Amino acid sequence: MQLRWLEPADLPVLQRLFGDDEVVRFMALSRLETRAQAEVFLESIVEGFLEGSLYQWGLEAGGQLVGTCTLAGIDRDNRHAEIGFALERAHRGRGLMARATRALLGFSFRFLALHRIEADVDPRNTASIRLLEKLGFAREGLLRERYREQDGYQDALVYGLLAREWQGIPATDSQPVGR
Ligand SMILES: CC(C)(COP(=O)(O)OP(=O)(O)OC[C@H]1O[C@@H](n2cnc3c(N)ncnc32)[C@H](O)[C@@H]1OP(=O)(O)O)[C@@H](O)C(=O)NCCC(=O)NCCS
Repeated sequence: MQLRWLEPADLPVLQRLFGDDEVVRFMALSRLETRAQAEVFLESIVEGFLEGSLYQWGLEAGGQLVGTCTLAGIDRDNRHAEIGFALERAHRGRGLMARATRALLGFSFRFLALHRIEADVDPRNTASIRLLEKLGFAREGLLRERYREQDGYQDALVYGLLAREWQGIPATDSQPVGR
């Protein structure tokens, strides 16, 4: 497992991953339907990186890109950021994202010296909730009717992990590489 820079050759996988209704269901992101939309998406990742506000790394396993692991809303004054993840269905349930997220947390707390990482999760997103709790995130609250959906408003759970609560990453997992 490796976290790495995303590049134009990854566009077909990005389009497939973020074109999957089930992947974007709980994200504040419209489903990617065309290659042109995938290109704009990748451009926004590069822009975010250059601004220093977003790190969206590709998750590679067995030599293939299978997902992304993201640090968004990086606030260097207050030393916090928000974490996000997406994995192709065929690669789930093998602990891949837990390993990738541990690597990203190690990078965030050690390299970026962040103090706090947070996540905003739909209460119906069982897999993400389980993943965050397994990583040591604390459930800090419920934002009532936070998001407008087709048939009403949806609550959001807030999770947080502080640098002092972070216990380190296994030696086998890599830090993000590239750029
Ligand atoms: C969330 C997601 C990244 C998890 O990836 P994954 O590699 O399958 O997760 P892991 O295998 O590392 O599992 C982590 C933990 O969650 C549990 N888990 C994973 N999927 C689960 C599910 N559907 N239901 C219940 N628990 C689940 C695992 O069992 C594991 O816990 P355990 O070690 O105690 O058994 C993946 O399901 C996904 O991409 N979902 C769609 C995108 C998404 O919703 N992103 C978050 C938006 S905020």
